[in-house]
Amino acid sequence: MKTAIYPGTFDPITNGHLDVIERARDLFDVVIVTVATNTAKTPVFSIEERIELVQGAVEKFSNVRVDTFSGLLVDYAHQVKAQIIIRGLRAITDFDYEFQMALVNRKLDKDITTVFLMPHEKYTYLNSTIIRELAQLHGEYRDFVPENVHMALQQRFPRK
Ligand code: COA
Repeated sequence: MKTAIYPGTFDPITNGHLDVIERARDLFDVVIVTVATNTAKTPVFSIEERIELVQGAVEKFSNVRVDTFSGLLVDYAHQVKAQIIIRGLRAITDFDYEFQMALVNRKLDKDITTVFLMPHEKYTYLNSTIIRELAQLHGEYRDFVPENVHMALQQRFPRK
């Protein structure tokens, strides 16, 4: 039984993240999307809201679960008996940071392997910061996020 974890801040989850989740769920028996609580970022959505938004977006996938973690990612991986960490690589600019993180995690625990998946190229320029900015400034972002996230962002940043 191969269990993979897909960690991130998910503030909020985007269609790019979902694309990675869909690829991962085809490769592994169980995928746990795990939302980071102790991120250095200052999220717009609380941890409870981010979890709920991820849950709403992945409920159609039978082998995907949603969870949260704090502390070291490798400790969490052990707790849930996961052997794989999934990370998305959108462009070469992601590489340095991801490479560093994967090597640190491997140093911390040699039994846990990071697997990089490339989302569809139509999502290469997407990240959560861009989505939040579009929502705040009332730009068009409907195609970039799941419907439940679009609704939550519209409520968070209503047109005056
Ligand atoms: N599509 C769209 N956007 C994507 C994406 C995809 N497929 N993949 C990543 N992104 C975006 C995210 O939205 C995020 O954008 P933002 O910065 O504008 O919010 C950015 O790329 C990267 O963020 P994310 O994937 O959420 O990861 P993160 O860098 O916020 O999370 C943790 C990193 C939480 C996994 C990492 O810090 C961690 O493991 N922390 C625990 C502590 C630890 O174990 N440290 C030792 C290891 S170094």
